[in-house]
Amino acid sequence: MKYRNFLKSRLSDDIPDNLLLPSGFHLVGHVALVHLDFELMKYAHRIGNTTLEYDSRVKSVVVKTGPTKGRTRQPSYSLVAGDSNTVTTHIESGVKFKLDPLRLTFSGGNKGERIRVSHLTKHGENVVDMFSCVGQFTLHIAKAANVEVTAIEINPEAFEFLVENINLNELNDRVTAVLGDCRKVHPRGVANRVIMGYLHDTISYLPTAIETLVDEGGVIHMHLSIPESEVKRIIKRINQICRGYGFQSTTEVFNVKKYSPGIEHFVFDILVK
Ligand SMILES: C[S@@+](CC[C@H](N)C(=O)[O-])C[C@H]1O[C@@H](n2cnc3c(N)ncnc32)[C@H](O)[C@@H]1O
Repeated sequence: MKYRNFLKSRLSDDIPDNLLLPSGFHLVGHVALVHLDFELMKYAHRIGNTTLEYDSRVKSVVVKTGPTKGRTRQPSYSLVAGDSNTVTTHIESGVKFKLDPLRLTFSGGNKGERIRVSHLTKHGENVVDMFSCVGQFTLHIAKAANVEVTAIEINPEAFEFLVENINLNELNDRVTAVLGDCRKVHPRGVANRVIMGYLHDTISYLPTAIETLVDEGGVIHMHLSIPESEVKRIIKRINQICRGYGFQSTTEVFNVKKYSPGIEHFVFDILVK
């Protein structure tokens, strides 16, 4: 039975018919992340307990209580049912990610992009992941190809899980984790491919990505959440910045997912020569 119908069948006596129950949840390991409309928040515990009954994989249910905040993208969730230990191991296409989704973001909507980039990466490449978090891109890439990856993360909490995940996936010989601000700690002149998996004013970090590439250039995957109408302006700006470093650039743009009303998550694949 579909999740919404299951909730309806169990909760119709308590929750008024005019309130729209959620159609699904995002599952990270054993933790179900549920988004509820404001009017449903007072029923969050009932919905949480019913979610535990709905899917035996779910051991903890958390609901979104506010926006994702700050440079480290700290999510706002609150536990409403089940196990209070929300540290979990999420497995995606054979890659293990240990994290606490109550404290760190892990977007299910980016899965296709993680797989796409891991397939683009060729054996022998040197890759720098500038915003690696717990290794979302790094681990897929290092698992798919015999590459050298430098994974940079500024948040010590995410960094701790990143180091643990490198061990968990037995990728120590391919991945080096670096704690710090990528603008300060990035390697220079080494990379064939740079991943910029950060959505907010990412273009201000493009000079750092260019400095990270080898002299012949390479590929930069720059993520950004913007209205579609902004795409052309961003491509112009990319060309300008690359020219400033003596490079030519060709950019392809892909839509990763809807981000919020009127805003899309795009990835700009920038071929720098
Ligand atoms: C939203 S997460 C995205 C993780 C992953 N790249 C992805 O796309 O799924 C962005 C990460 O970048 C980190 N971050 C933000 N600014 C940074 C900086 N200047 N240097 C290194 N890491 C940074 C944050 O702490 C956070 O873990």
